[in-house]
Amino acid sequence: MTSEEHFLSKPYGPKPDSGVLAYQAPSNIALVKYWGKYGDQLPKNASISFTLDHCVTQTHLHFKKKETSGFSIAVLFDGQPQPSFVPKIQQFFDRIVKYMPLLEAFHFDIKTTNTFPHSSGIASSASGMAALTGALLALENSCLKVPLAPSDFEQKASFLARLGSGSAARSIQGPMVVWGKHPHIPESDNLFGTLYQAPIDPVFRSFQDTILLVDEGEKVVSSTVGHALMHDHPYAQSRFDQAQKHLADLMPILASGDLLAFSDLVEREALALHAMMLTSDPSFILMKPNTLSIIEAIRRYRAETGHPVCFTLDAGANVHVLYPEQCKSAVLQFIEQELKGFCSGGRYITDRVGHGLKKL
Ligand code: DP6
Repeated sequence: MTSEEHFLSKPYGPKPDSGVLAYQAPSNIALVKYWGKYGDQLPKNASISFTLDHCVTQTHLHFKKKETSGFSIAVLFDGQPQPSFVPKIQQFFDRIVKYMPLLEAFHFDIKTTNTFPHSSGIASSASGMAALTGALLALENSCLKVPLAPSDFEQKASFLARLGSGSAARSIQGPMVVWGKHPHIPESDNLFGTLYQAPIDPVFRSFQDTILLVDEGEKVVSSTVGHALMHDHPYAQSRFDQAQKHLADLMPILASGDLLAFSDLVEREALALHAMMLTSDPSFILMKPNTLSIIEAIRRYRAETGHPVCFTLDAGANVHVLYPEQCKSAVLQFIEQELKGFCSGGRYITDRVGHGLKKL
C-alpha cells in the first residue's frame, strides 16, 4: 500500500516568474457510490465510475511569483470574478500544501469554465478540482529537478484531487476508475483512484450517459453534510459492506457484458444511496416526482423493448440514463418522446464515456 509520504514534494530547481497552464477534466458518474468518509477525505467503501467525456471543466491557471507568505488566489468563473469559490480552493490548498509547497510562492488567477450548466446538479466539484489539480501539478512538475513520469503524475494528480473533492480522484483517468481499497482489485487504494484494469467487455468503452436535468436548483444537501450524515447512521456499516459487495458483483458483469445484470445492479446501487438519505437524521428526499416518473418509464421501456437502458442518480434529483452505443438512436428517441417532458425546460445533456485529464 502506498503511503501519504510517497506524495511529498521532491526537490525544486528554479521556478518560472510567471506563466499560464491550461487543463481540462471531466465529471464522472459512479456506478458504485462513495457516500461516507473518514480521516482526510478517505472513503468508507470502494467506488467505481465511468469517466465522462463532454461534461468538463476547463481551467487556465495564471501564476506569478510573489514574495509574501500565505496563499494568494483569485477566481474567475465564466469570465466573472467569483470570490465565493475562493474559500473552497483555500481549504484545498491548506490540505495539499505539504505535498506541493510551491503553492505559497505564487499568486494564482484561476480562470475556469464548465461545458455544462453550473447549477445543473452535475458534479462540478469533481471536474473542477481535477482540472485545477492538473494545472497545479503541471506547474510543480516544471519546477522539479526530476519531473514525474506520466503514471506518477496521474497518481499524484488523483491523490491531490481527492483532497479537494473525493469524487475528483476518479476524474483523472478513464474509461473506468476505482477509488477505495477493494480486496478483489489489488491496485485499488484509499488514497487515489486507479484505472480499472480487470477485463471489461468492449460495450462499456463507448457507453452513453444522457443526463436528464430534473432540478437545476442548488443542491439540497452539500456533499460535506451528506457524507457526515453517515457517521451516526443506523445502516452505515451495512451500506459500506453492501457497496463492497456490489463492486465484487459488478466485476464479472463488466467482464461478460451482461447488460441486464448491469442494469439491475447499477439501479439498486443508486437507490441504496438515496435510501441512506431517506433514513438519515435529518432525512432528505432528494428525488422529485419527475425523478420517479423517469425511473418508472425507464424500467417500463427496458421491459417492453429489451433495450438494456438503466438509470443512476447522484445526490440530487437528476437522472443519468446509461445505455450502450448500439441502442443510441432508439434510446434518444425514447428520451425525446417520453422523458424530455419531465426535464426542467426540457433540458438534457448527452455524454459518453471518456478518458480523463487533458492538457489544453
Ligand atoms: C453521491 O465527491 O462530492 O456523487 O468528497 O465531500 O467533495 P466530497 O464529496 P463528493 O461526493 C460525491 C458523492 C456522490 C457519489 C459518488 O460520486 O461516488
